[in-house]
Amino acid sequence: MNMVKKVSVLFVCLGNICRSPTAHGIFRHLVKNAGLEEVIEIDSAGTAAFHVGKSPDTRSTLLAKERGIEMSDLRARQVDLGDFYQYDYVLAMDEANLFNLKEMALPEHYDQIKLFLEFSRDYDEKEVPDPYYGGAQGFDRVFDLVDSASRGLLEHIKQKDL
Ligand code: 4NP
Repeated sequence: MNMVKKVSVLFVCLGNICRSPTAHGIFRHLVKNAGLEEVIEIDSAGTAAFHVGKSPDTRSTLLAKERGIEMSDLRARQVDLGDFYQYDYVLAMDEANLFNLKEMALPEHYDQIKLFLEFSRDYDEKEVPDPYYGGAQGFDRVFDLVDSASRGLLEHIKQKDL
């Protein structure tokens, strides 16, 4: 487990340029506002390597900025096996990400791997839909779902881990 901060969270999607960096940016903002940045470690990664090293998609970055969230400093990376040892929460954006993570991980790590939207208190959806090939509405939806789940996750961590 993470040795430096008390709790650690990794957000995972396919490319690590739309959904998981949005989650990273929003959750980082909430954690900072709660004064918990020395306590909660945050990162994001993709199950695929297509976009490794790239900035988040401009459609995500601009929308986030309009809503007060800075995420342009983030760079894409791929999930690796060490992540299952490092992160207490490995949170998948959709069922395909969840499946791929469980294929990579040892069974002893399965409990750490969950669908991110389980933490939303506002939505019943299970998946954050992939917005990459769609229009602007898809990015709005991603932001709203991820914002809700981020708030629920922080409350969960405050109650359970801190
Ligand atoms: P993400 O979105 O998984 O939310 O970062 C995608 C980004 C890139 C691709 C698919 C989804 N792609 O096929 O390149």
